[in-house]
Amino acid sequence: MKIYVPADALARALGADAVAAALAAAAAARGLVVQILRNGSRGMAWLEPLVEVETPEGRLAFGPFSGADAGALFDAPEAHPKALGLTEEVPFLKRQTRLTFARVGVIDPLDLADYEAEGGLAGLRRALAMRPEAVVAEVADSGLRGRGGAGFPTGIKWRTVAAAPGPQKYIVCNADEGDSGSFADRMLIEGDPFALIEGMAIAGLAVGADKGFVYIRSEYPDAIAVLGRALALARGAGLLGASVLGSGRGFDIELRVGAGSYVCGEETALLNSIEGKRGTVRAKPPLPAIEGLWGKPTVVNNVLSLATVPIILARGAGYYRDFGIGRSRGTMPLQLAGNVRFGGLFEVPFGLTLGEIVNDIGGGTASGRPVKAVQVGGPLGAWFPPALFDTPFGYEEFAAAGGLIGHAGLVVVDESADMLALARFAMEFCAVESCGKCTPCRIGSVRGVETLDRIAAGDGTAVPLLRDLCETMRLGSLCALGGFAPYPVLSALDHFPQDFARAREAAE
Ligand SMILES: Cc1cc2nc3c(=O)[nH]c(=O)nc-3n(C[C@H](O)[C@H](O)[C@H](O)COP(=O)(O)O)c2cc1C
Ligand code: SF4
Repeated sequence: MKIYVPADALARALGADAVAAALAAAAAARGLVVQILRNGSRGMAWLEPLVEVETPEGRLAFGPFSGADAGALFDAPEAHPKALGLTEEVPFLKRQTRLTFARVGVIDPLDLADYEAEGGLAGLRRALAMRPEAVVAEVADSGLRGRGGAGFPTGIKWRTVAAAPGPQKYIVCNADEGDSGSFADRMLIEGDPFALIEGMAIAGLAVGADKGFVYIRSEYPDAIAVLGRALALARGAGLLGASVLGSGRGFDIELRVGAGSYVCGEETALLNSIEGKRGTVRAKPPLPAIEGLWGKPTVVNNVLSLATVPIILARGAGYYRDFGIGRSRGTMPLQLAGNVRFGGLFEVPFGLTLGEIVNDIGGGTASGRPVKAVQVGGPLGAWFPPALFDTPFGYEEFAAAGGLIGHAGLVVVDESADMLALARFAMEFCAVESCGKCTPCRIGSVRGVETLDRIAAGDGTAVPLLRDLCETMRLGSLCALGGFAPYPVLSALDHFPQDFARAREAAE
């Protein structure tokens, strides 16, 4: 009997280790021989820990599982109170198109044979048989855009690095994942680390880089441990090293752990941090693609961008490009968080409306009260009220509605939320995390907090000042931390003016 119990950090936080131990004990007490495999998470947070049992018809799901549920799994599985039926038929999973996350929750994350059996390494093998320019062209043709936030076309970035002169180039994977409501990078690394390693190896071969770095946040100890073990296994299997899969072409990866700074997710601050310098933002130009890590041409890509490359190479650019809308091609792993009934990871082609995502897929709020707003794209993303819920999920569509999709983290709040307090939180976050390099952000964010406090104290004359300050930050900041902090502030003010007027009315 094969039983899957996720070792994903979320599942572990909800008791998955105790569940695995209880299952082993219950099986031993009954004299049963069972194999307990620790997989990644299927991404249905409200069902974790989600236990699966392999059957000839497919895997059966049980959740949310606790140690007390273990005995019944062996005694009367068909009548188990936590039975959910076939995993693949659970509606939240069935409605998805899993390309980047195809193997997450399915395989043993550290079993290379399992990885290969589920389609792994096909992309790298194909890339090794192609000319590097053709690999870059394939990624460009797929329409893949950076999943870290800015949405820059990945193929164009790679082409720039490939064309830059010099013998030493680097691939840097951005696994800093600082956005509120975001967890896709963590889930991918914990559930399918070889996909990221394979994607980075393909990137290295394509642009002529023999060295890669993964910059990962220290708050992800499980992901760090899994990736560290996966890198060692990949080296042992010849997937990394002096001759990738016996090709005679070398590529290796080093892991670097950040120290808890949001701005170190910004690519140039990240490069400084890897170099051992303070994590402050560099002025651009030069772009990292021309002068990046230690001044060498560098590809900086998000985990999801790189982990999507293997399937593009394996199935072809057209296969990936056929999903999506407009200039947003392929799929996006959405992350539903905050006050939402069905939170978790939902990978789907671009194009669903925000309302479909929040209400149909997310099931509305966990509190049962009406949704007041959704913040999309992290702490610098705009708040969307239900009036904008017909906005299709796509880069251009969200920009036209005054927001951004960023890394596709969505934080839902219900009608009890105070949007003035949330606007203040955004400004304060900017003040705390500012790297201090430019004045509009360093000073502006502090003044922004003070101005919002004046509004909260009933001073309505501070509202035009806040708008003026936000405009200065938007136009004058060196990077998107200061430049985008006005989005959550102004969207809160524009869509929920009553929350800003309440204090004034109380003072009058
Ligand atoms: C303040 C700030 C924080 C950022 N944090 C992240 C992050 O945690 N992860 C990430 O991939 N990109 C982050 N970015 C975007 C990166 O600068 C960069 O655009 C990205 O890593 C490029 O990879 P991509 O093209 O694959 O998206 C951040 C940007 C800013 C301005
Ligand atoms: S906007 Fe803020 S974080 Fe970005 S460079 Fe300026 S001070 Fe640093």
